[in-house]
Amino acid sequence: MALYSEKVMDHFQHPRNVGKMDDADGIGEVGNAKCGDIMKMYLKIRDGIITDVKFNTFGCGSAIATSSIATEMIKGKPVSEALQLTNRAVVEALDGLPAHKIHCSVLAEEAVKAAVKDYYDKNGIAYDKEQFRQVDCESCHVHGAES
Ligand code: FES
Repeated sequence: MALYSEKVMDHFQHPRNVGKMDDADGIGEVGNAKCGDIMKMYLKIRDGIITDVKFNTFGCGSAIATSSIATEMIKGKPVSEALQLTNRAVVEALDGLPAHKIHCSVLAEEAVKAAVKDYYDKNGIAYDKEQFRQVDCESCHVHGAES
C-alpha cells in the first residue's frame, strides 16, 4: 500500500483555498516547534457562517494536505461547527495518514481553532476557554523532525 492516500496526494499537489486574505475576520497561526512547520488560517465570517477560508502553510506535504482539506470541511459551515473539527476527522477525510504524520493534522485543527478564537476576541464574543485547549497528540511530542 502506498504511504500516502490518493486524497493526500491530490490535496498536496492541488491544494484548495491557498492564499492570504486581507480582510479576514479571524486569523490563526500555529506551529509545531519540533518540525518547524507553520500554518496560517484566515476566516471570513458573516452572521456566524464561515463564508470564505484561506490558508498558507510553510511545511510538509501532509501539513499542506490537512490544511487544504480542513478549509473545505469548514467553508460554508457555522463557526460553532468549525470548532468541532477534530484532527481525527481531518485524517479520515484524507483516507488516513502515516502515524508519524498525525501531528500535521493536529496543526490543521489548531489553526482553525486559533482563527475562530481570534474572531471571538476581536468581536468581544464570550467563549468557553476549554474549547481552545491544546490538542493532546502523542505523535506531536515524539515525532516532528521529518518532513
Ligand atoms: Fe510537522 Fe508535517 S506538520 S512534519
